[in-house]
Amino acid sequence: MDNHLTIVDHPLVQHKLTLMREKDTSTAVFRQLLREISQFLAYEVTRELPMTNKVIDTPLMEMDAPVLAGRKLALVSILRAGNGLLDGMLELIPSARVGFVGLYRDEETLQPVQYYFKVPTELNKRLVIAVDPMLATGNSSAAAIDLLKKAGATNIRFLCLLAAPEGVARMKEAHPDVPIVTAALDERLNEKGYIVPGLGDAGDRMFGTK
Ligand code: URA
Repeated sequence: MDNHLTIVDHPLVQHKLTLMREKDTSTAVFRQLLREISQFLAYEVTRELPMTNKVIDTPLMEMDAPVLAGRKLALVSILRAGNGLLDGMLELIPSARVGFVGLYRDEETLQPVQYYFKVPTELNKRLVIAVDPMLATGNSSAAAIDLLKKAGATNIRFLCLLAAPEGVARMKEAHPDVPIVTAALDERLNEKGYIVPGLGDAGDRMFGTK
């Protein structure tokens, strides 16, 4: 994947995203739509996975058939909203290893602070896909990628539902080697750091915590 930013503009993704944006969409429907979109995004982000061949027997004959090569990939959810993308992706890639990164924003310094970090072994031999629905300022995403690199990851991709131009720029500056896949690039951030037009607080909407 050469381009730093890929926007998945498939009609089904865009239609489902519009339903998610609508403020009256229920928690249950929001969560289901996120699960569905995550599978289209997973399809795109895994497009260039390395392949190998293995000999199998079909009911008719022997065949040299393609299979995924290498170490099982790692999905890393950036808590808590990342979990909304994780579930659908795991349905598609059930053998993936799973990690979690927990960061909160220090209200005084406004910098991300780590409170949880648990990732699969041998990150250096895996494709690592970090997932977080909203790429807003990019500060916590960039910090999460820093932590993954410190843990040994060298082949990382970032998958989100919505991105703001500010977050994309921040990620490009901090991690130009990490391609981003998203369903949409919105206009901007507002003064409170929300993506606009956006969909509000993704965590609150998927977990019903507002
Ligand atoms: N996080 C969210 O959940 N929503 C935004 O708009 C920005 C960050």
